[in-house]
Parts: sequence; C-alpha cells; structure tokens
Amino acid sequence: MKHFKVAVIAGDGIGPEVIDEGIKVLNKVAELDSGFQFDFTYFPWGCEFYTKNGKMMDDDGMEQLKEFDAIYLGAVGFPGVPDHISLWDLLLKIRKSFDQYVNIRPVKLLKGAHLPLVDVKREDIDMLFIRENSEGEYSGAGEWLFKGQEHEVVLQNGVFSRKGTERIIRYAFETAKKEGRSLTSISKANALNYSMVFWDQVFEEVSAEYPEVETASYLVDAAAMLMIKDPKRFEVVVTSNLFGDILTDLGAAIAGGIGLAAGANINPERNFPSMFEPIHGSAPDIAGKGIGNPLASIWSASQMLDFFGYEEHGKVVLEAIEQLLLEDQVVTPDMNGTASTFEVGNRVTDIITSIISSKDVSVK
Ligand code: NAD
Ligand code: IPM
Ligand code: MN
Repeated sequence: MKHFKVAVIAGDGIGPEVIDEGIKVLNKVAELDSGFQFDFTYFPWGCEFYTKNGKMMDDDGMEQLKEFDAIYLGAVGFPGVPDHISLWDLLLKIRKSFDQYVNIRPVKLLKGAHLPLVDVKREDIDMLFIRENSEGEYSGAGEWLFKGQEHEVVLQNGVFSRKGTERIIRYAFETAKKEGRSLTSISKANALNYSMVFWDQVFEEVSAEYPEVETASYLVDAAAMLMIKDPKRFEVVVTSNLFGDILTDLGAAIAGGIGLAAGANINPERNFPSMFEPIHGSAPDIAGKGIGNPLASIWSASQMLDFFGYEEHGKVVLEAIEQLLLEDQVVTPDMNGTASTFEVGNRVTDIITSIISSKDVSVK
C-alpha cells in the first residue's frame, strides 16, 4: 500500500469548508482503489493563528512542510490581518521557498457549466494557463523611502531572471508539445521596455527549439479582450506572475465561475512538495455559511492525483464534477443552486463511486 503524506493548510474563511470536501473526495478515491492511501496532517496556520501567535506559521514551518509529498491549501487572508502580511508569510512564502515556479491553471468550460459568452461554443473555452510563479512582478523587491513624509517614494521592482524566464517558457513548450497544442505567450513589451522585451526575446529563443509547436504572442490588454471575444485562439498559454493572476480570474469568469477554478503550484524537479489549491480567496462575505462552492478545491484534488501519477483517477474526479454540473441538482448558490458545500462534496463522492463501479476504471 502506497502512502501519500499530504500537509493540509485549510487556512481562512471558506478555506476549511471547501478543503473538507476535497479531502472527502481524495479519501473516497483512495478507498475505491485500495492500492494507496492519503495520510493527512493538518496545520492550523492562517489569520486566526496570526491573531493568537503574531505569525502566520510556526517558525520552523517550512522545515515541517518539507517532509510531505504535497500540500493541500484552502485559502489565506482575512479582514483584520493586512493582506500583504498574511499572503507573504504563508502562501507566497511556500510558493517561493519550495520553488514552485509553475502555476498550472486550467481554464476549461466543463460540460454542464454555465457558458456566459455569446457567439462562443463550449469547446472553444479550453485553455491551460502556465503562470510564472516565483518571480516577475511578485519578486518582493522594492523599497519604501521616506515613509509617511511628503516626499515618500515607493519602488516595486519586477525581477525577470534568465533562469526564471527560460524555465517557465520551456516548461510551457514541453506541455504544448506533449499535448499537441499551440502555445501562446502573453506579455507587454510595448510599455514594459525591459522585462517584457526580455520575455519576448526568451520566448523567441526557446521557440526555435520547438519547431513543431505552433506559437502566438499577444499583448496582455489585447489578450484580455480576445479571451472574451475569441477564446479558441488560446490553448496552452504562458505568462508572467501578475498577468497570469489577473487573466486566470478572468478565465474563471468565462469557465464556470471562481468557485470552479483550480490551480497547482508545481516544483517540477520534485525537490520540494508541490501545492494544490483553488484559485479563489477566503471569500469573507460568505465564510461560515456553509455555501462556498467546493468544486475548485475538488478540481485541485484531481490535479494532485495527476501529479502523483494517478491520471485515470484525476479524470474520474473531473468527470464526476461534470456529471454533477449536468445534473444541475446539487450546486451551491454561486451556480444558482441551493445546496451546501457539504452536500456538493457528498454528491461528488457518490458520483465517483458509481463511475468507478460502472466502468471498472483501471484503478488497481
Ligand atoms: P475571493 O476569491 O475570496 O472572493 C471574490 C468573490 O468570489 C466573493 O464574492 C466570494 O464570495 C466569491 N467566491 C470566491 N470563492 C468562492 C467559492 N468557492 N464559492 C462561492 N463564491 C466564491 O477574493 P477577494 O474577496 O478578493 O479576497 C478575499 C481574501 O482572500 C483576501 O484576503 C485575499 O487576499 C485572499 N485571497 C487568497 C487567495 C489564496 O489563498 N489563494 C486567493 C485570492 C484571494
Ligand atoms: C492567487 C491569489 C494570490 C496571487 C494572492 C492571494 C497573493 O490571488 O493565487 O491567484 O496573486 O497569486
Ligand atoms: Mn488571484
């Protein structure tokens, strides 16, 4: 029996509510397979922990996390703790310290999910965003000079290293090549005359190594427009940290909503654990009501299964989400339903059980 050690940081707001359902799904899949099992260890880190202890995680928190095969994270951030502290001391700290430089965010409109765009077919919304996740606009390099004085000056530097830029672009080419799909780079070299000129140059360079991959390159403003007007242009997409953050929320809006959007923070070399999470935040406006949509965290659980080499199982989880959306009976209020977080999780696990028993998926 294989054991996967997973660190659970459920975090703040609706984080713990949606993570519970993802764990339910992972346990069900493992139980049906019987060849592997998840050992979950819970870490109480987050804004409440900060309020009690003055820090977002234990002092040796990163050391503790190193031992795990993966991290499953809910959401971080809550009113009362400044966002730049809560996020930099927990979520961003993990992404950066564990060199999770690839952020994989599918923007795919599943069957049954609401299609909000006109003159667009469901199949046209099928993108895979590969967001640079370790540097760029999120380098954290900067300065706040003469703070509070009339002549104060704030600098926030974008950092685009040769290594960081090349590796994310190469990862995206490898993905596009493997999937037989085109690769689009999104940048902004007309205004960002160092960082994005460099990005474009590296994209060109690496592109020469992959003659079989069809490429396109857009400025980020035009890309935002085209994602709405003509989404089929985008297949595999590579972009910088901040652009990827913004465009994947836009992507969520056209692909079923923020309650459905998942993300994987990957350290491809597997020197450190990778981290799986919904891309949404802690949703303070609905926290504690038991109505947060758990499908994004369940989708990220499916990404975790893929990462562990159980792609067939990952597919079953996605299929179950699709079936639940097609049934349109047990969905949360953000999807115009009346179900609770818990009920959605239960329904997904029931569907998984019936899929696996009916088609005898090669789960053994
Ligand atoms: P948010 O994603 O938390 O919420 C935006 C809106 O979407 C809200 O109306 C919320 O109710 C809704 N929403 C989000 N997820 C939902 C779900 N699963 N089901 C139903 N509705 C959902 O973004 P925000 O309000 O800008 O941020 C709130 C806090 O979360 C902030 O502290 C922010 O920094 C943090 N944040 C954390 C992460 C993360 O941990 N990965 C991501 C984004 C924002
Ligand atoms: C996300 C979030 C984070 C990001 C924040 C909370 C720092 O918005 O994962 O999309 O910008 O990466
Ligand atoms: Mn975001």
